[in-house]
Amino acid sequence: MHLTRNAKVYTLISIFIVIASVYLNLHQKAASFFVTGKDTSTKIHEKPMLSFFGSLFAKFGIMANQSPQLRQIGPGFWNVRASFKLFKIIDIGTHMSIIQLRNGNFLVIDTVEMNDQLKKELDELTSNGTKIEAVVGVHPFHTLAFPGFYKLYPNAKYFGTPRHLRNLKDIKWTGQLDDDKESLSKWEPEVELRIPAGAEYVNPQPEKTNHFVSVFVYHPDSKTLHVDDTLMYAENPGILFRLFGFKAGTTMFHPSIKDHGLYPTAEAPLQFRDWMKRLQEDWNYENLCTAHIGVKAGGAHAVVEELLKNSEKFFEDLSERNKKKTPPTVGKQGEWISGNECG
Ligand SMILES: [Fe+2]
Repeated sequence: MHLTRNAKVYTLISIFIVIASVYLNLHQKAASFFVTGKDTSTKIHEKPMLSFFGSLFAKFGIMANQSPQLRQIGPGFWNVRASFKLFKIIDIGTHMSIIQLRNGNFLVIDTVEMNDQLKKELDELTSNGTKIEAVVGVHPFHTLAFPGFYKLYPNAKYFGTPRHLRNLKDIKWTGQLDDDKESLSKWEPEVELRIPAGAEYVNPQPEKTNHFVSVFVYHPDSKTLHVDDTLMYAENPGILFRLFGFKAGTTMFHPSIKDHGLYPTAEAPLQFRDWMKRLQEDWNYENLCTAHIGVKAGGAHAVVEELLKNSEKFFEDLSERNKKKTPPTVGKQGEWISGNECG
């Protein structure tokens, strides 16, 4: 049988979708088993299939580890990797970090969807949540897991970006993180927070694609930097991600840096570059926890330094291009547009 090139491509895609559907079905059954500990209809002979397709799809960057758990990154710092899927299938991951303060209490930075195992681990660490001093949302579009986390731990103080406070009305917020120095210095010198310069933080537009900004969180005791989308680190990208230019060990800025991420002014690219340089001078971190897609344990400061060095021409060129553009405008406030979240 002779097939045209297009027919071959469509056939391959169809086969892939069928396999993906079978795998997702099995995976869902297995996940429910691990979460609830109850019976599942997944049969013994299906387990090798799960393992096979799991590793196959992980290679393609389509599925990721589905069992979030605490991973200690350094003294007093834990990171949790969790699943976040684009188009319900491509897993770009997301994360949450837990920092122990010197008074014995804990800060939770960002939230992820909880399961029984993760809740058990977090409860053990924080005396059933009683030692969670605050829960802090640091990326305007990482909001999805907050309602669920709030139900489990309603007694902590909740802080978020202005967009968190605008859109998640059912959470009793204690305050927001903004340019007011007091809001960023609550836990200094143990934990430092900074908002990048040259980019819109209060109301990033367009919501669909401008996910560049996040509050950077630095914990000197563990020499760890927690960042959501602004910086991305591909620990071990699947084939799908490699097709988009991700190599193992790649550190990069969020792709929106090329269009909406920074203000379209001549100053903005240079302001952001200089802000990053100052951060590099001030913060002596070794580990970098990024939401998408992984953790750089050790040597992180050096790779970000390299990224900055390699981006110098990009910042200058963008600044030149922006000289021809109109000044920035801030979009409408307070819109809730579902589907724009990315963690
Ligand atoms: Fe994100």
